[in-house]
Amino acid sequence: MATTDARKTTPADITSAAVASFDGCANPRLRELMQSLVRHLHAFAGEVSLTEEEWREMIAVLTATGEITDARRQEFILWSDALGLSMLVDALAHELPPGATESTVLGPFYVPGSPQREYGESMVLEPGAGVPALVYGRVLDGSGTPIPGAELDVWQNGADMLYAVQRPEAEEDHLRGRYLTRDDGTYAFVAVRPVPYPIPDDGPVGRMLAATGRHPWRPAHIHMIVRAPGYKTVTTHIFDSTSKYLDSDTVFAVKPSLVRNFVERSADDPERAAGVEGEWVSLQNDIVLAPGEDRVAVVDPGRTA
Ligand code: BEZ
Ligand code: FE
Repeated sequence: MATTDARKTTPADITSAAVASFDGCANPRLRELMQSLVRHLHAFAGEVSLTEEEWREMIAVLTATGEITDARRQEFILWSDALGLSMLVDALAHELPPGATESTVLGPFYVPGSPQREYGESMVLEPGAGVPALVYGRVLDGSGTPIPGAELDVWQNGADMLYAVQRPEAEEDHLRGRYLTRDDGTYAFVAVRPVPYPIPDDGPVGRMLAATGRHPWRPAHIHMIVRAPGYKTVTTHIFDSTSKYLDSDTVFAVKPSLVRNFVERSADDPERAAGVEGEWVSLQNDIVLAPGEDRVAVVDPGRTA
């Protein structure tokens, strides 16, 4: 006669017991998430025959991630970005109709509450921030109809590779601003030509990149969140087509449809924006919004400074 032994000792028994421990979870979505997480974690450990030493190292890495994370630094999001999880979640969340501007990673340097700026106004508050860039275009719906009153919430790094939020001494509103489209759907602002920069690599994520022979660089880009009532908010980038690292963005965020050509302009070009001196660049960039409403507002993800 077969005996029933309540003790679970083989790897398969241990996995079954851990999965079954959530059977009574009253929230069906939480039950699904926890049981699937346990199955995949156990499968990972089994697949690689995880050693006790490697398991201890993983715990130490998670501990270091918690220790370095604070109000200005968010190392957990950086892990998610560097492992491609942020872009995967983004892809699963945003199925857009063809032609709509694609979304990409928010990143840790977004700070809500940028100042509202006028059409064409510069968001460059410090001298020497980089080559001036006039960015202009329209916000449209899928049929090409302009959307007045759409908001573009813009932020970027300067020629020193840093966002203002990474520099305690910086003007808080340097290289960020919110712009509204005019009645004909047009917008314009003065920025600087973005430059490639490394993601913060002095913590556990940086150590992982170095240990695995990966670089920490992102290609040059300007961030924007575009919102209008009746349309899905899009969190996106404009990438500079001449930038290094377009083919190896360390957070996997480049989409070909977001790559644009900056046009080089001379100091005496009559289309120069007020206040722009010396050589500058211009960039035309239309944005197409998909109809719909947002289910969740964009929130401050915590920063990685
Ligand atoms: C960014 O583009 O600001 C960014 C995105 C992911 C990780 C680090 C920085
Ligand atoms: Fe960025």
